[in-house]
Amino acid sequence: MSKRQIHLGAMIHGVGHGWGEWRHPDALADASVNFGFYQQQAKLAEAARFDFAFIADSLHIHARSSPHYLNRFEPLTLLSALAAVTSRIGLVATVTVSYTEPFQVARQLASLDLISGGRAGWNVVTSWLSGTADNFSKAEHPPHAVRYRIAREHVKVVQGLWDSWEDDAFTRDKQSGEFFDPAKLHTLGHQGEFFQVKGPLNIQRSPQGQPLIFQAGVSEDGREFAAQNADAIFLNPESFSEARAYYRDLKQRAMRHGRNPDELFILPGIRPIIGRDEAEVERRYQQAVELVSIEDALVALGRPFNDYDFTQHDLDAPFPDLGTLGENSHKGTSDYLKQLARDENLTLRELALRFSRPKRDFTGTPEQVANALQDWFEDRAADGFIINSLLPDGLQYFTELVVPLLQARGLLRREYPGATLRDSFGLQMPQNRNAQPRVESAVA
Ligand SMILES: Cc1cc2nc3c(=O)[nH]c(=O)nc-3n(C[C@H](O)[C@H](O)[C@H](O)COP(=O)(O)O)c2cc1C
Repeated sequence: MSKRQIHLGAMIHGVGHGWGEWRHPDALADASVNFGFYQQQAKLAEAARFDFAFIADSLHIHARSSPHYLNRFEPLTLLSALAAVTSRIGLVATVTVSYTEPFQVARQLASLDLISGGRAGWNVVTSWLSGTADNFSKAEHPPHAVRYRIAREHVKVVQGLWDSWEDDAFTRDKQSGEFFDPAKLHTLGHQGEFFQVKGPLNIQRSPQGQPLIFQAGVSEDGREFAAQNADAIFLNPESFSEARAYYRDLKQRAMRHGRNPDELFILPGIRPIIGRDEAEVERRYQQAVELVSIEDALVALGRPFNDYDFTQHDLDAPFPDLGTLGENSHKGTSDYLKQLARDENLTLRELALRFSRPKRDFTGTPEQVANALQDWFEDRAADGFIINSLLPDGLQYFTELVVPLLQARGLLRREYPGATLRDSFGLQMPQNRNAQPRVESAVA
């Protein structure tokens, strides 16, 4: 059996997560709508044999949203363009289930999978900002638990539609005039709580059969959904011990659902800050710290609480009691922040800065960062990592300085094992459910 190796994703995020990253002297201030920037980052990641490039997304802004949120590309459009200028790296798009129709999503992702030769992945999100409803003609934003019920049904329908056509359904026989074999076309006929979708899908089965499913669930509902449905899970752990506990929990849940836990990949998102020596590490860390002002940190802290305005509270008083605020938005994170403030008796200022400032876990020389990644991986806090860059040349530092060390230790591949994203993760292409001897109803 081949040795377990680290999987890597590059979160390519335009001008960055925070409010200040675009002001760095070397930052491209229009990176979020600059295709050249995305192309350059994807090629860097591909040259380092990353499994995938990941594009995050959401669908509601207001004047205080961060610069990247205010003005950015739509993920599927962007990834279709990146598919044409890359050849091996996976392309993972964030698409919400709460404001889309499964038929449309199934069609778009199948198209991306075909265009890219089998490299598509779907980061399934439920959308936590209630203002999204105002952009989609909805009277209200569905409650957290309902969003996860929608997610289950939505993903089942999409996956059912992806099996509309058997792999060899399109015979395209010019002699006989048979374009497809009617026995290999299957109608879904889904009637559910949220969706009624007859099918079939108007595109053939894609190279991966089923594009990969990514998810980031922190709450109880989110974890259950991920354990049942995801091929890979993202998380933003506060610490090594939190990541390890999450890892164990998710693998156990997967087993309870009858899955092979090795086929569910746990990928913490990290923001490494690397320097060639201690002095450069410190210089770069300080640069990253200076990009986060307290004003920006307060706005960032508001996000998991449905863009709550924290400026109305005293910065140096204990973190305010917010009651149930946050429970219907980014539930896992908002619950966690409230708990952290209580446990450590933090002021609003302390919590805001702790939330936004770079952590030290993956700050160091290439050797130190490689050691930290190796520890997390070998101690089963991670199966791999999503690399998110704080400084404009963060991905370049990582690929040039850390990747070769991990490759030399046998922890990272030097070549892609195959053409598809499934191949990169060592996951088999699933058989079309309708091609099996007994045809079952595709959606329960
Ligand atoms: C690394 C990472 C990336 C995420 N990317 C997105 C995203 O692009 N869009 C989005 O709406 N939510 C995103 N989320 C949020 C999750 O979808 C989810 O709402 C969050 O983890 C809270 O979990 P819960 O819904 O179970 O409370 C991301 C979360 C993590 C950890």
